[in-house]
Amino acid sequence: MSRCGFVRELTSWLSGGADPDSFPYLPVTAEFHRTGKHFVGKEFLALLDETRAHVAARATGAGPADSGPVRLLRDFLDVALDKWDGRYDYRSYLALCLLGLPCGDGGGSVAAWAATRQGRDRIFVHLVADALAFELAAAAGTAELLPEQRPGPALVAKRHRLGVRAVSPALSRLGLTVDDPQPAAAAAALHALVAADRSAAEERAVRLSMLPVYLSHDEYLFIRVLQAYECVFAGLADELRATIDAIDAGRAVAAAERLGYARDQLASAAPLFSLLASMQPESFRTFRAYTEGASAIQSRSYKLMESLCRTPEGSRLDSAAYRSVPELRDRVRAGGPSVDAALRAAVRDGRLAGADRALVELRMREFAATVLHWRRTHHRLAVRMLGERPGTGYTEGTPYLAEVRSIPVFTAVAADPDPAAPSEPSGGCPE
Ligand code: HEM
Repeated sequence: MSRCGFVRELTSWLSGGADPDSFPYLPVTAEFHRTGKHFVGKEFLALLDETRAHVAARATGAGPADSGPVRLLRDFLDVALDKWDGRYDYRSYLALCLLGLPCGDGGGSVAAWAATRQGRDRIFVHLVADALAFELAAAAGTAELLPEQRPGPALVAKRHRLGVRAVSPALSRLGLTVDDPQPAAAAAALHALVAADRSAAEERAVRLSMLPVYLSHDEYLFIRVLQAYECVFAGLADELRATIDAIDAGRAVAAAERLGYARDQLASAAPLFSLLASMQPESFRTFRAYTEGASAIQSRSYKLMESLCRTPEGSRLDSAAYRSVPELRDRVRAGGPSVDAALRAAVRDGRLAGADRALVELRMREFAATVLHWRRTHHRLAVRMLGERPGTGYTEGTPYLAEVRSIPVFTAVAADPDPAAPSEPSGGCPE
């Protein structure tokens, strides 16, 4: 669609009643994809800004402001206009509000929990499958999106293999399998499986949550891997909340199950790092010139996960790590619950002892070892991609990650040493 086409679509939508249900999402996203979010013309952004004001005014005047289509449109416009507003950050870059990540509140029935876990598995699979579908389309020459710095066939085959491996555990929990030994055929089978099974809302969430800042092919992979990890962290936070409740209620087996599930989630997502390690460092350096201000240091779900394990020390709460998530920092400072505190209280009060206590502590050590392993792998990947450069979250970069990678996950139990951990940091690929 031409530039004029985009303006025509939008103005005719505005003059035709501006029904949020029929907002021209496709031409709007196409305009963003044509240049990358960083380079979208000011006149288009001004028009979108006007549209947003119009939507807000209408929502206040008539009907519920938070109804599905209105809310979706407002969230989308907020994501699209983040740079224009000067609000651009990690959450808006990844369009997290559009992904619809389910959130378990720690309570609810067994069936509700199973549904929450299943919802997360579905989103995780959809995100990774979409990344692989983009690789397939680009390799076949049918993708126009992000045309610069296309990867070669060997790299693409590697991505297919690692992506399919990353989704396999979630896929089998959903009762689905992809077992073609050929990486490209397996990726294509995964895409077909997902396309046949996905609802219209799920499909839209995937489509609208891809607004890269530039035109480098590998930014697609970068965004999807970060989103998939966000899905994992949100799940870990849910499981840890439920662990705390179970310990408080003296249900050791339930607490151990939650911790074991969380450990498995994080461990089985590990191929995502290998997948991201296939990113071409020069591509990464190209598009990151336009991601300044968006860093995973602003990830709420990661910090929530960390602070649900134990209350961070004052120095950590005062560092860039928690200053980047101010509302969460305030909540932690006001005294939030943690697994560490729940365990100490349960042991002190005689609610957790003997074999039950040993079981919960074992699962805590295993979970801690998996988190420490994640941090070491993340640090190695950052060294490989970033070298000496500072981070986009205004830290000095990898020295920050080297410093924080060994912060204890729990203090009530010590983590078992990770047998896979290198004794020295290395710049190698996290394969
Ligand atoms: C090319 C790959 C990556 C590089 C170069 C990289 C680099 C960095 C750097 C330099 C920081 C320090 C903060 C800053 O100044 O930006 C950071 C923090 C962080 N990154 Fe990454 N990262 C990468 C991939 C990922 C992925 C895939 C995730 C998964 C969500 C992730 C999650 C995090 C988290 C949670 C933090 C905050 C850690 C803390 O504050 O303790 N990163 N990253």
